[in-house]
Amino acid sequence: MKILITGCKGQLGTEIQKQLRLGYSEIGPIPESLQNAEIVAVDLPEVDISKLEPTLAYIAEVAPDVVVNCAAFTNVDGCETMHDVAFQANAVGPRNLAMACEKIGAKLVHVSTDYVFSGRANGGIPLDEADAPNPISAYGSTKVQGERYVQQFCSRFFIVRTAWLYSYYGKNFVKTIYNAGKKFGKLEVVNDQLGNPTNAVDLAHVLLQLAATQEYGIYHCTGEGICSWYDFAAAIIAGGKVDATVAPCTSAEYKAKHPESADRPAWSALDNRMLRCTIGNCVRPWQEALEVFFQNWDGENGMK
Ligand SMILES: NC(=O)c1ccc[n+]([C@@H]2O[C@H](COP(=O)([O-])OP(=O)(O)OC[C@H]3O[C@@H](n4cnc5c(N)ncnc54)[C@H](OP(=O)(O)O)[C@@H]3O)[C@@H](O)[C@H]2O)c1
Repeated sequence: MKILITGCKGQLGTEIQKQLRLGYSEIGPIPESLQNAEIVAVDLPEVDISKLEPTLAYIAEVAPDVVVNCAAFTNVDGCETMHDVAFQANAVGPRNLAMACEKIGAKLVHVSTDYVFSGRANGGIPLDEADAPNPISAYGSTKVQGERYVQQFCSRFFIVRTAWLYSYYGKNFVKTIYNAGKKFGKLEVVNDQLGNPTNAVDLAHVLLQLAATQEYGIYHCTGEGICSWYDFAAAIIAGGKVDATVAPCTSAEYKAKHPESADRPAWSALDNRMLRCTIGNCVRPWQEALEVFFQNWDGENGMK
């Protein structure tokens, strides 16, 4: 078994490599068929997934059984001004991987986002895999197109939408709030955007479980439970034992102070329905996963 991980230096790519090397995650063992798998991990600049011919040639040469695509342009605000660069990484890149996987019969595990949804009125019901994407940001629209290309060009695909992702490795909201809390002692965070904080441990664990199956399709995989960014920030300050206060603000107030920022969905809570209906949903409640994060995090870019 050979697994190729693209975007391997990011939050998720680093976590997946760790689980494959160890053979288990915080949640449990990885699938038997992936134990001792050969891992090929690549990132920019050596493998740029947005370049068609080099990507096709590289994947044909490596001949993986599974490609896990963790590569993406994830700066949501940056996507608004660098739309083409975002489209290359988030839409053209997955297309190239899909074509390459199809040629050699490999499975493609591709990661997408809750920001494919508009966040407008869903009557308080979490969005499931049957709900129609309708993005309101450049990031969301590039990720939707990536999803379409994967479905169009690859027959063995898993598209897994996650949200509000954080990890021991790389940059994320948890570390930003923790560090800003320590520095400023006082924070304001939006209280009218609701979603699901997701620990990369849970997501990586699920991606590997899926990769061992033929249960192809579109999946939602987010931490269990719904909260606002303000609730999440308050839990980070408490869990990280930071001496700081967090006050709620509205998206309109935030936008007035940061006019260049992308619009974000007000309601992007996802339901992991497809996981429940197939391999089972082992994703932890977000509060529990955050608590374990603070038990293990080294305060910088790794684990204790
Ligand atoms: N972060 C979140 O809150 C969040 C939420 C929902 C969904 N997601 C999705 O989850 C997945 C993993 O996200 P993450 O947070 O782990 O991302 P990340 O930490 O930003 O890592 C992405 C990696 O991909 C690399 N990359 C960018 N463009 C590339 C290209 N053209 N070819 C090859 N590699 C490229 C990046 O390199 P550079 O750093 O050098 O650019 C980086 O190492 C992504 O699909 C993302 O859209 C993330």
